[in-house]
Amino acid sequence: MLFPEYRPRRLRQHDAFRRMIRETVLSADDLIIPLFAIEGKGVKNPISSMPGQYQLSIDNIVKAAKTAYDLGIPAMMLFGIPDKKNPLGTGAYAKKGIVQKAIRSIKEKVPDIALITDVCLCQYTDHGHCGVVVGQAIDNDATLDLLAKTALSHADAGADMVAPSDMMDGRVAKIRRCLDEDGFSNVPVMSYAAKYCSAFYGPFRHAADSAPKFGDRRTYQMDPANALEAVREVTLDIEEGADIIMVKPALSYLDIICRIREEIDLPIAAYNVSGEYAMIKAADKAGWIDGKKVMMESLVSIKRAGADMILTYFAIEAAKEIKNGNR
Ligand code: PBG
Repeated sequence: MLFPEYRPRRLRQHDAFRRMIRETVLSADDLIIPLFAIEGKGVKNPISSMPGQYQLSIDNIVKAAKTAYDLGIPAMMLFGIPDKKNPLGTGAYAKKGIVQKAIRSIKEKVPDIALITDVCLCQYTDHGHCGVVVGQAIDNDATLDLLAKTALSHADAGADMVAPSDMMDGRVAKIRRCLDEDGFSNVPVMSYAAKYCSAFYGPFRHAADSAPKFGDRRTYQMDPANALEAVREVTLDIEEGADIIMVKPALSYLDIICRIREEIDLPIAAYNVSGEYAMIKAADKAGWIDGKKVMMESLVSIKRAGADMILTYFAIEAAKEIKNGNR
């Protein structure tokens, strides 16, 4: 049937029709809120490049987790900002490290939120790289032990899920094996599987003070030009035991999400990263776009592309919109 018999606009005439034929509906269940833990008490340091986001001391991160959970957000991703850094990033796997302490408090006070922890070394190393540095290079295999130690220390403190974001080869297998051996066979691994070497991480590195002091991350994170390689990376991580695989960033990589959705039957997470957040906030502040509408459109597009869950700094704002009936 063609025009004039067929008119696609017919079903766009009423809000009720539009709701009936809507293919993708955003829910608070889709959202994961990233939070940054810092030492101290009563600390709430605004992150200037990410308006509305803060470095939070543990008492405040507990409050943020509760607010999120009460708005229907099922999960959080926890990042730590330690007081001290050193070459081997020992703070990442210290029993009383910032993340380990935060996990214990959050699990005690907000037990129902799914607490996912970012497993990486870059916030904890003085050189800012995600692995052990030998000369000017990142030593893959030497890093695996430290990542596994970090993941174990998180599970031991009570983390519900661990999420390696370092992009070393073989880390999912190593972490899975160590968790299983230590009695954590029920702790899932969310793997940052297709993680690109992206300039969109800029504000995060500012927030977490984790920018590399020399060079860049191109020898371990993926080239933004590659799509087939993403399928390969994801396939590898699944074979190594990943339970959920992630594509990161999200908005410039919707094709990757879509492609992985077609090839893979595991849950897919997408990370709507700091730079994506910052751009929308900046343009909204300048009065150039309607930030709330662009936020909701971005999130629904990530879900439409095939993501089952979205890590986003917009989680609270978006959950409020959803609650008010705006999707
Ligand atoms: C740690 C890590 C990064 C992000 C998440 N985990 C930074 C990086 O890889 O440089 C970025 C998150 C964001 O930009 O929102 N490796």
